[in-house]
Amino acid sequence: MENNLKDKVAFITGAAHGQGRAVAIALAKEGCNIAALDVAKKIEYPNYNFGCPEELVMLKKEIKDLGQECISFCADVRDEKAVNDAVIETINKFGKIDILFNNAGICAYAKVDEMTNAEWDSMLDINLKGAFIVTRSVVKYMKERKSGVIINNSSTMGLRGGNRLSHYTASKWGLTGFTKAIAIELAPYNIRAVSIHPTGVNTPMNDGLASLEGKTPIEIAEASAGNLLPTPWIEPEDVADLVVYLAGNKARYITGAQYVLDAGLLTV
Ligand SMILES: NC(=O)c1ccc[n+]([C@@H]2O[C@H](COP(=O)([O-])OP(=O)(O)OC[C@H]3O[C@@H](n4cnc5c(N)ncnc54)[C@H](O)[C@@H]3O)[C@@H](O)[C@H]2O)c1
Repeated sequence: MENNLKDKVAFITGAAHGQGRAVAIALAKEGCNIAALDVAKKIEYPNYNFGCPEELVMLKKEIKDLGQECISFCADVRDEKAVNDAVIETINKFGKIDILFNNAGICAYAKVDEMTNAEWDSMLDINLKGAFIVTRSVVKYMKERKSGVIINNSSTMGLRGGNRLSHYTASKWGLTGFTKAIAIELAPYNIRAVSIHPTGVNTPMNDGLASLEGKTPIEIAEASAGNLLPTPWIEPEDVADLVVYLAGNKARYITGAQYVLDAGLLTV
């Protein structure tokens, strides 16, 4: 069976670098046009590198070189108006949204008894409420066409605990539950919803956590992971391959499911 992604439109959050960018490129290679949204500036928390406007410009150029179109938005997934405006502009430009990849997210370590309300709120508001805000905006258009797929980037921490990551873990379990609930609600509209659960991924987030913790990126990956296979992390392209599969026709009957991409971590 063909995966049939030619001329589909994908709306991707957190697309400036890391996994979002890899997914944008991979879907463009399959023939998709891309709407790439990223906050594209440093925000209040955590104190590491976020995406930037220059990365979005480079992404657009790379997608153009692949023969596809890309529009980009500098917007925070917590900002309902900015998200709605981006979704409307995408519909005006491409006429539809077939694929939503809710990927924007942050991570930082903190002991539960030392965590501030602001840290808790930022984590939950970006990782979980942000996905809700974007989904609400996009689903309206998917329902009209009775077609769509929503892929939520959770984590292995959406299926287990994480040390000094109570806020992150809560947000990622929240995404797992959110996915299952919308899968039920949207199935009659032929809209699928799936969550993915990567182990540590070799991205700027991992580098950012390393600098915050005074460790090397490999030490960070190994501390939170414990992969069975002999690798400290997986690459963003590994995640992109999974998203391409789940977004396409080959996965047409997959909904409500959790897709683990963990080098064996959750096995023991
Ligand atoms: N890196 C890992 O080890 C790992 C493992 C499993 C799951 N995840 C999850 O995968 C997703 C992507 O992670 P990554 O490793 O590519 O991270 P990253 O930090 O490298 O990239 C995340 C992107 O999201 C953007 N972003 C952050 N907050 C935003 C906001 N409020 N609004 C819009 N954009 C925002 C950033 O600017 C950045 O470009 C996250 O949800 C993360 O929790 C990461």
